[in-house]
Amino acid sequence: MTNMGGYVSISRISSIIFRMVLKVWAYSGLVLVFCFLLYYMYGGIFAFMLLFFSITGILYQVQDMLLYSPELPSHSRVYVPIPTMFGLPYESVHTKGSDGVEIHMYFIHQPLERQRHAPTILFLHGNAGNMGHRLQNCVGLFHNLHCNILLVEYRGYGLSEGSPCEEGLYIDAKTGLDYLYSRNDINHSEIIIFGRSLGGAVAIDLARREDYASKIWCLVVENTFTSIPDMAKVLLGWRVLEYFPLVFYKNKFLSYLKVKQLRIPSLFISGLNDTMVPPRMMADLHHRSGSIRKQLLQIPGGTHNDTWQMQGYYHSLAVFLQNCRVQNTIDKQKTACFPETSTSTDHIWGTVHVI
Ligand SMILES: *[C@@H]1O[C@H](CO)[C@@H](O)[C@H](O)[C@H]1NC(C)=O
Ligand SMILES: *[C@@H]1O[C@H](CO)[C@@H](O)[C@H](O)[C@H]1NC(C)=O
Ligand SMILES: *[C@@H]1O[C@H](CO)[C@@H](O)[C@H](O)[C@H]1NC(C)=O
Repeated sequence: MTNMGGYVSISRISSIIFRMVLKVWAYSGLVLVFCFLLYYMYGGIFAFMLLFFSITGILYQVQDMLLYSPELPSHSRVYVPIPTMFGLPYESVHTKGSDGVEIHMYFIHQPLERQRHAPTILFLHGNAGNMGHRLQNCVGLFHNLHCNILLVEYRGYGLSEGSPCEEGLYIDAKTGLDYLYSRNDINHSEIIIFGRSLGGAVAIDLARREDYASKIWCLVVENTFTSIPDMAKVLLGWRVLEYFPLVFYKNKFLSYLKVKQLRIPSLFISGLNDTMVPPRMMADLHHRSGSIRKQLLQIPGGTHNDTWQMQGYYHSLAVFLQNCRVQNTIDKQKTACFPETSTSTDHIWGTVHVI
């Protein structure tokens, strides 16, 4: 019996152990499968997230390279044509902005007697090359409008220090305007902010700021876009971009929102043959502008880069400035004598002109 019993108990014990091992094995198997699944899922998600962040991170940084082209044409960072090559008298200015970045500017000026009375254009150029590549255009402005011109070189362009970024370009525009106010040999009442293409977005940002708008006589923008996300949609043609949140864009330049804050007289010059920035964007900016004194000037045949070479360009600019001057005089008289009367120049504002 004892033997039998011993045998029975041994077989029972072994079967219990066997069942326990089975159970533990099953459980440990389950735990292993669970661990494996956990690793597989979360490891996969982790790897995926790593990949996602690195790709978007790279794309995020690459946006700068796509938008800013200070190296095009080659040697643009070392060779900046000088105004005397075009017969324009000038001063070369190096000045530090509020964040300590030193930027380079050309102050092109009329002969001294005229310089004090003349309007002064603060010129903000497009995304490629340097300010020296805009001197041909400056010759036209100088002789047709009899104005002074401050060419501002953005950070990371030409001989300016630093590297370009959206906020940095805004600071550079402020630095330019601050510089003009540091001179007392120009007429501070007639400062024009001019921006072409990317420069238009920088100009709009400056002109909509309350603290700077009061220092600006009027704004002129040419062939500029509503925003960088809008341009990405146009250039890439990907419908999926409609659903991209704004945070994915490193550079936004949201001009279509900022124009609503404009209060100063504004001229929107649009080359109708611009194949880079769709002319409808200029019409849209004009439409959205919060200024009651705004004009859209459409120039048939004008392309993105050569609208300023079209017939009637400088004349139209001169007419716009004259209208601003007349308006100023009326405004002064109004506040002095007839605060309630309506102005006689109202009909010229808010209109679309084609030359
Ligand atoms: C400066 O511009 C204002 C506004 O157009 C004008 O009234 C004033 O006479 C100008 N000043 C000089 C010194 O020309
Ligand atoms: C206009 O200038 C841009 C750079 O600002 C350049 O990429 C483009 O090729 C130019 N277009 C023409 C038609 O010259
Ligand atoms: C402007 O575009 C129109 C229509 O696309 C075309 O017929 C015309 O030749 C272009 N003009 C110039 C100067 O390129």
